[in-house]
Amino acid sequence: MRFPENFIQEVVDRTDIEELIGRYVTLKRTGANLVGRCPFHSEKTPSFSVSPTKKMFFCFGCHAGGSAITFVQKAENLDFAEAVEFLANRAGLPLPRESDSFSAQQNGVSRKRVLEMNLEAAKFYRACLFDPAIGAPGMDYFKRERKLTEATIKHFGLGFAPNGFHALRDHLRRLGYSDDELIAAYLCARSQKNNNVYDIFRNRVMFPIIDTSGNVVGFGGRVMDDSKPKYLNTSDTPAFKKSRHLFALNFAKNCCAEKMILCEGYMDVIALHAAGFEYAVATLGTAITPDHARIFSKYTQKVIISYDADEAGQNAANKAMRILGEVGMDVRVLRLSGAKDPDEYIEKFGADRFRRVLEESRTGFEYKAERVLSRYDLSVGTDKIKASNELCGVIAEYHSPVEREVYLNYASSKLELPVDVLRNSVEQIRRKQRRESAARESREAQASVKNFGDRINPDAAKDPRAASAEESILGLLLIYEEYRNAVDEGKIELDAQDFVTDFHRRVFEAIMHLHRSEAGFRFELLGMDFTPDEVGRIEKMEMARQQLSQNGPEVLRSAIDVLRSTRERAHLRNGDLNTRLAYLREKNAKLHKGKADTQ
Ligand code: GTP
Ligand code: MN
Repeated sequence: MRFPENFIQEVVDRTDIEELIGRYVTLKRTGANLVGRCPFHSEKTPSFSVSPTKKMFFCFGCHAGGSAITFVQKAENLDFAEAVEFLANRAGLPLPRESDSFSAQQNGVSRKRVLEMNLEAAKFYRACLFDPAIGAPGMDYFKRERKLTEATIKHFGLGFAPNGFHALRDHLRRLGYSDDELIAAYLCARSQKNNNVYDIFRNRVMFPIIDTSGNVVGFGGRVMDDSKPKYLNTSDTPAFKKSRHLFALNFAKNCCAEKMILCEGYMDVIALHAAGFEYAVATLGTAITPDHARIFSKYTQKVIISYDADEAGQNAANKAMRILGEVGMDVRVLRLSGAKDPDEYIEKFGADRFRRVLEESRTGFEYKAERVLSRYDLSVGTDKIKASNELCGVIAEYHSPVEREVYLNYASSKLELPVDVLRNSVEQIRRKQRRESAARESREAQASVKNFGDRINPDAAKDPRAASAEESILGLLLIYEEYRNAVDEGKIELDAQDFVTDFHRRVFEAIMHLHRSEAGFRFELLGMDFTPDEVGRIEKMEMARQQLSQNGPEVLRSAIDVLRSTRERAHLRNGDLNTRLAYLREKNAKLHKGKADTQ
């Protein structure tokens, strides 16, 4: 089931793309366009541009691009039809009637269905927890072992998965969900041995994961003793991607404008919220990703990392600092002494003490510098040299000269070395890094010229010349209706067989198909047949063309000639004797016909 083309067009026409994207990205006007920092990759200088007149966006850094629909697909992690629905709702357009029940499918199970099942599951787990006959072990664990109050338990919607194999399965079957749906939601699994469907979460206390719109998107489940695995978490489902969700963001989003606390565990977050720090969140059994970092940058200015005190936690903190720094966040790090994690710290020392530690949180630099210094004995010469080299390495990472100067003074006083000496060393490191990154960039540029590693159009590497001719042709067809007409009417001879690379052939077919359809060609309709990444690539071809002044028919003809000669060469090279002869005969006949026509 697809939305009708004219409905999709209306949705796009009714969407104010500037206002839509402005909700995700701070945009500044430059001439006809708006620019900002790309929400789809980490960058410090803006290379993301929105054209309100063309109703398109494009990032010159990561080549994400397309219509408002493509933007919503990427930003909200929806598929094409879901994104259309999202924009239709926003614009107040009623959905066409046949598609009322419509929502995108994955493995035949829709996100909507999964969310419904999750909600039912969350209610079921909660009811089990509060039923003493079933949930006593869970309630005991939460209250006695974890010192949670009933208010906190209710606030987070915590639950208990009973110790059988079929409790949730049978409950959800009664509500009309099929086994395949239960499996798609990662609530049940099918046994390899006897094909039975059984509950994944058993005899565990349950933590529902709720997104910022209030949907239950997944669960974490913890054992109540020391058995392994300690936690089970929902895997990716049509409604859940762990790299894109943060535990308790549904609460934190309301009080995090100034700062957020990032912890490792569910229990840390719950303890912090209970103690009044409702701006704490955690990743879900995974290290922080750039997707997470962009979520933070959407909600807050400053992130205070509060990971476990052990070596693993501190290493993870280092990584989190880098990833958050890349999206331009003010990052701080807590070091808690006397407790292994924030949960234990609050239990031992109380909320006030934690608040004080929070206020003294170190900047990224202080934290890294202390970590370096703590490993060396500065009264030993060789240690002092190593410490100074490492510290200069840390300072060299900062792009702002003012920041470097401040940190150089700090290092100079700690190491008892003249600031000029350290500054020289930092500049030396930076020059070396610049050389290396220039070399890397030019390697990458060369590789991309040769189309190596092109995931979207892997064929391009085989014949870069043909691929680039195809890009010119498609760019022209995307921009100019008269060329589409000319191809359609046979005034310009070009058909799908002329294309050398698969991806470009598909694009050609889609453009011409739309052109011939009742609705006519509109860029946003390409999203029906192509992924957002592919749409970005298609837009890149259009943008590249638009920046050139030469777009006359001779450009199109000569690009088509390149394809013809490529095909000829391929035929002559690869064909068996008969196909080669047949090809030459056909070509000869054409030549003669051409002569006859002109005579
Ligand atoms: P407590 O031991 O109950 O205090 O748990 P915690 O929330 O403090 O968790 P911990 O610091 O041990 O781990 C941090 C996070 O990593 C947890 O909240 C889980 O999301 C995840 N995690 C921990 N153990 C496992 C595991 O065995 N499997 C998976 N998939 N994730 C885990
Ligand atoms: Mn813990």
